[in-house]
Amino acid sequence: MLKAYNNLTSGMYLVGTKGDKEAGCIINTFEQVAATPEMVVMALNKENYTCKEIKKSKKFNVTVLSQNIDINIISRFGFSSSEFEDKYKPYSVKYDLLNLPYIEEGMTSLFTVRVKEEIEAGTHIVFLGEVSEAVWLNDEEPLTYKYYKEVLKGKTPPKASSYQKSKIASGYKCDTCGYIYRGETLPVDYVCPICGKTHFTKITN
Ligand SMILES: Cc1cc2nc3c(=O)[nH]c(=O)nc-3n(C[C@H](O)[C@H](O)[C@H](O)COP(=O)(O)O)c2cc1C
Repeated sequence: MLKAYNNLTSGMYLVGTKGDKEAGCIINTFEQVAATPEMVVMALNKENYTCKEIKKSKKFNVTVLSQNIDINIISRFGFSSSEFEDKYKPYSVKYDLLNLPYIEEGMTSLFTVRVKEEIEAGTHIVFLGEVSEAVWLNDEEPLTYKYYKEVLKGKTPPKASSYQKSKIASGYKCDTCGYIYRGETLPVDYVCPICGKTHFTKITN
């Protein structure tokens, strides 16, 4: 039952890297798995540009989102691709120990990681990595996935590990972020409220 997955708890994170160019995306699949040495895992969809760039660079950083995060950061990093735009451009960007970009505002901790193994997981790749540096940034409350969904009413796009398909009678799905407009007819010039794009595909069950 899909409902069982709703009881899994997780935080919300921004993973960043630099292969041929800087890339980053929102994830909720980051976890510490050992303390000696300090090892972490995360799962990235193979089609996400950030995943492709980490396969080249073999390094990444993860910042922990706080409850004070600007929701526009989640929209930008969670619903569009680094392939087509420089997602970091509007922000005051800092660089970590391995010279990877990160945003400090709205984040509570920073982890800089070297990839040790890549594990196939269907649509996703699980990256197992060793932490090069773990930095505490401030004591703001970390944002949980539950708070994001239930309080901020945030959405989860199809490429996220935790995405759940919903069956609806009729509607239109945003080609970019997967947002669903419910209704028989899509209004002319309708703009997606999540990612701002205008291309939709009719859903047929
Ligand atoms: C709440 C939330 C959780 C997400 N979790 C993951 C995740 O764990 N793994 C993943 O690959 N993508 C996840 N995503 C989706 C990516 O952030 C999204 O596909 C992004 O547009 C990829 O950008 P990129 O192509 O620049 O890498 C999540 C998005 C949101 C909003």
